[in-house]
Amino acid sequence: MSEQKIVVLGTGGTIAGKATNALDHTGYSAAQIGVHELLASLPGWHDGTSAERYVVEQVAQLDSKDMGFDVWAKLALRVSHFLAQEDVQGIVITHGTDTLEETAYFLQALLAPTKPVVLTCAMRPATAVAPDGPQNLLDAVAVASSSGASGVTVVCAGTIYGAEDVQKIHPYRLNAFSAGDAGPIGFVEEGRLRLLRNWPRGQALTLVAGLADAAWPRVEIVMSYAGADGTVVRALLKAGVQGLVVAATGNGTVHQDLEAALLLAQQQGVKVLRATRCAEGRLLPGANDALPVALGLSPVKARIKLMLALMQDR
Ligand code: SIN
Repeated sequence: MSEQKIVVLGTGGTIAGKATNALDHTGYSAAQIGVHELLASLPGWHDGTSAERYVVEQVAQLDSKDMGFDVWAKLALRVSHFLAQEDVQGIVITHGTDTLEETAYFLQALLAPTKPVVLTCAMRPATAVAPDGPQNLLDAVAVASSSGASGVTVVCAGTIYGAEDVQKIHPYRLNAFSAGDAGPIGFVEEGRLRLLRNWPRGQALTLVAGLADAAWPRVEIVMSYAGADGTVVRALLKAGVQGLVVAATGNGTVHQDLEAALLLAQQQGVKVLRATRCAEGRLLPGANDALPVALGLSPVKARIKLMLALMQDR
């Protein structure tokens, strides 16, 4: 068998960011440096074997706050294409931190890969005096190259997180992610993996082939808070919303005025899902719940689950 390859797909983010001052960690432009250049700066890249070992492709170049369905569709198609190649061992995706958890969950829910798909990122631009991107990239390659690794994971600051659990929890520090009380999958130490729990598993959907031309359903997130009411839900119904996720308080409770509007929306055929506003834990469903719950998914991930379910049901 030919040598197993690692595919590296670039999408932008701070890992590819540039600042005019090496001490500036916030006033930079994300998505400026191509993924080929990022890899070329890694130690060992020019040892003569990289060309056979790596397949490198720039899928997009954006600040991940601007992530959209067109890039998701393109990325999912490329990931799916490479996963199907017998000589591909794993895939690394460079991505901005801001919507990293959404892209990771989207790919896991859609593809449930049995090979490793590892998203990585940086909190400091590539031009920083001590950038974190190169080490994160090396760690991600270590995970993608590890026999037995599978599913969509996120690697940041030496920690491996599962796509379903990972969440950005800090706007500045280098270890900006957490898996809440689920905990990380493991750690990357000197290029070696120390595992604490199983790799993500799941059932792939049959959507990927039609994704490029698919009309994405409109699913929006509303939040329950003190003084919340049904105004936003009614406006969204008028705008033709097909699904609603409510970021509910505690164990899925919703302000009575907002809940009344959501129940009405559900009666009118809009799919409604409750997720919790809490950063940790998972919702415990009740026997008589009128609105279904998203269990451990955060509101942004519950939205993706609902969009995919609506697309799958067409
Ligand atoms: C982005 O999400 O693209 C910018 C912020 C970051 O990567 O940390």
